[in-house]
Amino acid sequence: MSIDLSSINKKEYAVIMKDIVKQFPKVLANDHVNFLVKKGEVHSIIGENGAGKSTLMNQLYGLYTPTSGDIFIFGEKKVFRGPGDAIRSGIGMVHQHFMLVDTLTVAENIVLGSEPKSGMVFDLKRARKEVKELSEKYGLFVDVDAKIEDIPVGMQQRVEILKTIYRGQKFLF
Ligand SMILES: Nc1ncnc2c1ncn2[C@@H]1O[C@H](COP(=O)(O)OP(=O)(O)OP(=O)(O)O)[C@@H](O)[C@H]1O
Ligand SMILES: [Mg+2]
Repeated sequence: MSIDLSSINKKEYAVIMKDIVKQFPKVLANDHVNFLVKKGEVHSIIGENGAGKSTLMNQLYGLYTPTSGDIFIFGEKKVFRGPGDAIRSGIGMVHQHFMLVDTLTVAENIVLGSEPKSGMVFDLKRARKEVKELSEKYGLFVDVDAKIEDIPVGMQQRVEILKTIYRGQKFLF
């Protein structure tokens, strides 16, 4: 179903996905989907396996390009060519299949990609301290020195959430 965006103030919405169509070679995964999120809102998208939930979110994260439709962040039209573009727009994603490095520790995974450095060198001490503080601030307990491969799935999910917060992402999906 199409929506008329002329009647709403686009700037009031953190995220607007408008008339999103994603056609894979054999499957129409998203058929004119509209998804609007205001600042501070929490939404759940529910649907059976293969309904197209991950496909929709992957377009918001720049992993897929919509076949048609538009994405607006606080009223500004965005074209994401990759996750880097989405991250720069403040979007954080906790993937259904976690994207953590099994052989690294919790702290190392959280800072990976935005590591604290002293000079040119990775500052592990600072990383551990920052991650500990963040984990306490948000009540998301993690063992910063445990390896990802040794911790349960629920803890891995916390690590993914802390990673997006560490990067300073504004929206979490
Ligand atoms: N890269 C792709 N290439 C082709 N088809 C795809 C691709 N990704 C997803 N699909 C198809 O698109 C449809 C929607 O898949 P999607 O993964 O978005 O569903 P979902 O709602 O996330 O399901 P689940 O609850 O199982 O996670 C499915 O039919 C799936 O097979
Ligand atoms: Mg999915």
